[in-house]
Amino acid sequence: MGKEKTKPGIERLIENVCSFLKAIYCYLIHAGRKFSSLSAHSKINILGLFVLLYILSVTNFHFWMMHKAWPMLFSQQFVRNMGMISLPVKYLLLSGFTLLLVVKFLGWSNISKMKAVTKGLKLAGLKNAGGIGPRATDIVNLSPYRQKVSIDSEGVPLEEFERKKNFIRSCVNSQVEAIIEGDEPKYLDLYLTNKLLPKRVSYGEVCSHALKPGQFVIGKNYGQVITQNLFDLPHMLVAGSTGMGKSYFLRQMLLNLLENTPDLQVYALDFKEGISMKPFRSHPRVRVIKDVTHAITILEKIESEMKKRFKILEETDADVIDPKVHKRDPILVLIDECSMLYSLVARGKSEKESALKATQITDNIAKLSRAARIHLVLGTQKITKETVSTHIQENIEGRVCFKVTSIQGSALVIGNKAAKDLPKIPGRAISKVSVDQEEVQTPFITTEEIKQRVARLKEDLDKGKRKPNQEMVSEVKLRKEKVEDKFAEVVKT
Ligand SMILES: Nc1ncnc2c1ncn2[C@@H]1O[C@H](COP(=O)(O)OP(=O)(O)OP(=O)(O)O)[C@@H](O)[C@H]1O
Ligand SMILES: [Mg+2]
Repeated sequence: MGKEKTKPGIERLIENVCSFLKAIYCYLIHAGRKFSSLSAHSKINILGLFVLLYILSVTNFHFWMMHKAWPMLFSQQFVRNMGMISLPVKYLLLSGFTLLLVVKFLGWSNISKMKAVTKGLKLAGLKNAGGIGPRATDIVNLSPYRQKVSIDSEGVPLEEFERKKNFIRSCVNSQVEAIIEGDEPKYLDLYLTNKLLPKRVSYGEVCSHALKPGQFVIGKNYGQVITQNLFDLPHMLVAGSTGMGKSYFLRQMLLNLLENTPDLQVYALDFKEGISMKPFRSHPRVRVIKDVTHAITILEKIESEMKKRFKILEETDADVIDPKVHKRDPILVLIDECSMLYSLVARGKSEKESALKATQITDNIAKLSRAARIHLVLGTQKITKETVSTHIQENIEGRVCFKVTSIQGSALVIGNKAAKDLPKIPGRAISKVSVDQEEVQTPFITTEEIKQRVARLKEDLDKGKRKPNQEMVSEVKLRKEKVEDKFAEVVKT
């Protein structure tokens, strides 16, 4: 009997200890995550707090202040006694206590958010046939304003969550940006945000932010329009899963560049039958190339032009081609779904040769053409060594990554998992140049609007309002040129 009575007591004690340890672990994990998501300014403030505590421990200033405020309670003798304690002990006690408060404070916001989400889902009336409601199991801070909450759905379908989205929003006091299926079938990911990124940004609304030659809009983040200059980059990689907005991004980028860079020459290689680049076909300074053989010829001509430009640079003792001085146009080589070009390596013999040649030429362009003003923009669904060579990857600094399905995919493009954590919203992307990373909604433009704007550009070119510096490189006959490289020789023979 006695045994039976004590057993539940011990069990209860063990249970309590376990849940206490679990709570501490939970607080530590969430405090750590919250800390890493804080802005650099807030991190410095917290670290500064511990430096301040060290100064207090050395000077005993806080004890003197306590004595001043409550002399009856904290006598001079008390302050002197405290001063006798060794510095490491004083600092450890002070900082240990503060650390507990900081962990509690940082961890609390995440844990209370999880509790609020679980409560919100319950209040929204979400439950399965057995009456069990979904609950929040984890929370990750994606940025100072965004969180991803993992939800154990308990069998409640995604559509039910979608239906109750507005209700959930009012319960958790945050905007619900998206609800998508999690990595495991049982889980859903709920994206909460305090600042909502727009789900659609129109090209017309933002294109005026990129008026300088070479400049283009990447997208809009929280209220700000993010732009880049292709001439500074000088190459770019656009990656992401199917249907997430790569081709639309390339189209708006191309239009933006054509509008603000009157002397730009463009070679758009689009192996999906040239569909996405179709509205640009009428532009006299854009060539849309749909097949690999044609692509190789064009790439060879561009490589030959690159060599000529190096010669010019040598002769004029200049560092970079100046379009007006050297009478050379900036050239953009844009390849949508470049993996289709490179992955031919795995196919038949002739295709394999073409693919190797294409890889080699783009490698050269990526490595050498910064000074020659020849720019490469590659769009791809897949980033692997087989689809985009490491040489090309190493030489392309500008990255735009739409949602990808794996952490590895995201890490390959932007060096972290932010693109995997993006909500599944077309046009939502991470823009990364060196260490600067931004989440943006990329501009959207319809095919009809592109056609209208391209027609206007063509009119300006016809009227001579926009003047190129040289004829299209694709029109130059390779065999007339003095070319030493082996690829050109292959074409000649
Ligand atoms: N910036 C955007 N804003 C809103 N919707 C967009 C945006 N970009 C694309 N979309 C929508 O997403 C759809 C797919 O876009 P897109 O064709 O660019 O995808 P993709 O990444 O190129 O796919 P794939 O790899 O299959 O070629 C478009 O038809 C369009 O409706
Ligand atoms: Mg596409």
